[in-house]
Amino acid sequence: MTQLETYITENEGRFLDDLKGWLRIPSISTLPEHASDIRRAAEYAADQLRRIGFEQVHLIQTDGHPLVYGEWLKAPGKPTVLVYGHYDVQPVDPVELWQSSPFEPTIRGDNLYARGACDDKGQTMLVFKALEALMTVNGTLPVNVRVLIEGEEEAGGESIDHYVRTYPDRLKCDAAFICDTHMPSKQIPAIINGLRGIVYTEVEVHGAKHDLHSGAFGGIAPNPLHALALIIARLKDAEGHIHIPGLYDKVREASETEKAFWRDDPLHLNEMYLEEMGVSEFSGENKYPPLERIWARPTLEVHGIAGGFVGEGAKTVIPAVGKAKISLRLPADLKSDEVYTLFERRVKELAPVGVEVTVRKIHGGEAVIVPVDTPPMRAAAAALKEVYGREPVFLREGGSIPIAALFYEILGVPVVMMGFGLPDDNLHAPNEKYSLSQFFKGIRTVTRFFQKMGE
Ligand code: BES
Ligand code: MN
Ligand code: MN
Repeated sequence: MTQLETYITENEGRFLDDLKGWLRIPSISTLPEHASDIRRAAEYAADQLRRIGFEQVHLIQTDGHPLVYGEWLKAPGKPTVLVYGHYDVQPVDPVELWQSSPFEPTIRGDNLYARGACDDKGQTMLVFKALEALMTVNGTLPVNVRVLIEGEEEAGGESIDHYVRTYPDRLKCDAAFICDTHMPSKQIPAIINGLRGIVYTEVEVHGAKHDLHSGAFGGIAPNPLHALALIIARLKDAEGHIHIPGLYDKVREASETEKAFWRDDPLHLNEMYLEEMGVSEFSGENKYPPLERIWARPTLEVHGIAGGFVGEGAKTVIPAVGKAKISLRLPADLKSDEVYTLFERRVKELAPVGVEVTVRKIHGGEAVIVPVDTPPMRAAAAALKEVYGREPVFLREGGSIPIAALFYEILGVPVVMMGFGLPDDNLHAPNEKYSLSQFFKGIRTVTRFFQKMGE
């Protein structure tokens, strides 16, 4: 066993404790009442970096939640890797569906259950621990490293967007490394080379000036909830086609290789997706393979509709207002701003007479496709192969990490997205978990990645 391997093996328990400590802090970025938890979670990350021996470790204040920065730049002549992660998490509701409390990390079998266990405290912590192991064993790192951790990823990431655009010189690097993605299974290591963008909106519909008796006014009154239903039904039909003029104009044609992969599905990912959803057939655009639908097609989803009466029993009311949260996922080349404009226009067009519709953009982020034949990608692939004993696959994912596109565009460097999440990790849902074996293998893989970057 190498010294590094011995160090990791002997310290697995403490690595896990350090992660658990971080998970106990409910750093939910979208809920204002958690502002102080957000700060504590940021301090926790900064403390981890200081203990490794990082320098210039500090919180960067923003208009939103603080960024955490640290650097270690004492490997002259070696490349610089910019490490990104996020310390914020999604809300936990419906909390009654959690088997153990979301902020009391609990081990069951090979899994650690907690909000953020995977997304993204677990995945960020494993990178910290890889750096710690390298530094402790060798007294030095094989490459220069900058670390930038944000606390607003789940809330749209406006602050880091502003920071990267304003101070690109402070983030000079040769590659960015993001550990916030998945592998198809414990046996199939993967590197992600494409993500979708997103535009998240809120549509509010107003009818009468106050709630009305549905008998006394039904037949002449506008109904905002029904108006919302009409708008939503016309935005996307039962076949999954979105009716927003211009939306599909810029959808890029994929390579034959990718198309064949989507069509033939050699890794049997379709079965895995059906199994994970617990349904017997796929929804959506029939004429595209399911993998293409989630990775490379625009989609529109309704996240929630609020308004009117949903209590016990009956109440004959015509509500005065209704509201819906609607987002679109966007493949490369569909810009979130442009799509928002098309969306807003279309929603207003679809509004039935008698209601007033307002549309608001909550956040947006861009898609990215990165080349796979770069030295940092090869280093990541070689590291995965050594630890998992199998050549990794290059896959896209349907989720969004807006910073990936920004690093690629503004810093102009290869962006390596190598994460250790699994399809059943329940991100954003009750019982989020992270596989312990994935956490520890991740540490080993990332040490090798840094070593190879330094060769
Ligand atoms: N880590 C996820 C993105 C992700 C999910 C990548 C699944 C790969 C597989 C990230 O934290 C996330 O949830 N992003 C949000 C972005 C949004 C709030 C701007 C998303 O995709 O909904
Ligand atoms: Mn994430
Ligand atoms: Mn997330």
